[in-house]
Amino acid sequence: MTYPQNRVFSGVQPTGNLHLGNYLGAITRFVDLQQDFECIYCVVDLHAITTWQDPEVLAANTREVTAAFIASGIDPEKHIIFNQSRVTAHAELAWIFNCVARMGWLNRMTQFKEKAGKHRENASVGLFSYPNLMAADILVYRATHVPVGEDQKQHLELTRDIAQKFNSDYAGSIQKNGFEEGYFPLPEPLIQGAATRIMSLRDGSAKMSKSDPSDYSRINLTDDADTIALKVRKARTDPEPLPSEMDGLEGRGEAENLVRIFAALADRQLDDVLAEYGGGQFSGFKQALADLAVTKLGPINDEMKRLCADPGHIDKILSNGAARATEIAAPIMTDVKSIMGLLHD
Ligand code: TRP
Repeated sequence: MTYPQNRVFSGVQPTGNLHLGNYLGAITRFVDLQQDFECIYCVVDLHAITTWQDPEVLAANTREVTAAFIASGIDPEKHIIFNQSRVTAHAELAWIFNCVARMGWLNRMTQFKEKAGKHRENASVGLFSYPNLMAADILVYRATHVPVGEDQKQHLELTRDIAQKFNSDYAGSIQKNGFEEGYFPLPEPLIQGAATRIMSLRDGSAKMSKSDPSDYSRINLTDDADTIALKVRKARTDPEPLPSEMDGLEGRGEAENLVRIFAALADRQLDDVLAEYGGGQFSGFKQALADLAVTKLGPINDEMKRLCADPGHIDKILSNGAARATEIAAPIMTDVKSIMGLLHD
């Protein structure tokens, strides 16, 4: 048995406020990968509940992420979109990985330290073992490539460590059961580059974030045209005019961020954007950026609204995706159980 050479898996948490940073940094990348890979995109609701979620809000957010995927151009028929809790194999393999990963490995995870903060004793056990579930998400499909942001790189390395330890702990049994050496692939991260790191509209040194208390710091995918235009107009800048070359953006985080957003939305090079708008005042550039953002995001916003108005339809897409995901995961779980000596029919 050989494993697929190009299967992509990635996950997005349904924790609300999907914004321009998620769109340019992750979702457009997911869209592009459909060309060359078999893609599985998962709304990771089991990860979301590692911190308490209001049940109704969680359900609404799960549908909203699904709508954003589809409205942005992910094809749920050619590829797979589903929510994690519908495919029980994720939780099942995560338990097995709880027994493969070492305490010491998880103790080194910087995201847990950040999220748990000073209240470590009060964090859920799920928040601590979160990376094992993430490894299960990926490996239950024997996925080979994982598009993630820089912040998830350490979790991807842990996934590789878990795959490697499983492969070596059970090397003899893997062979005896007739599987090729190294049952799990070591998945490659496809790290989203700095070019797509979108910063806050209020502070060029902080990432655009759903948890920023100021709604003016981000453009949400649910913002209507007027709100988008207003937020761009109000975006913080400095008194200097826009430079004609990249050097002139040094130390001017807010200005650079707006130029990057423009370039990403227009699919143009930064130099090219500066050549056109450099030397002018910010107001003119901001007007052009607002128009561009409304043109690009408006149709996505409309389509998300249309999809969210029919939750039953979204749920059908999710259950169909889950059925197809289960078809891939089930035989892999059967292999894993055979390899480990867990009895099953
Ligand atoms: N931890 C990821 C995040 O917060 C989400 C995620 C869960 C994920 N499982 C995954 C990403 C598997 C890639 C692959 O961004």
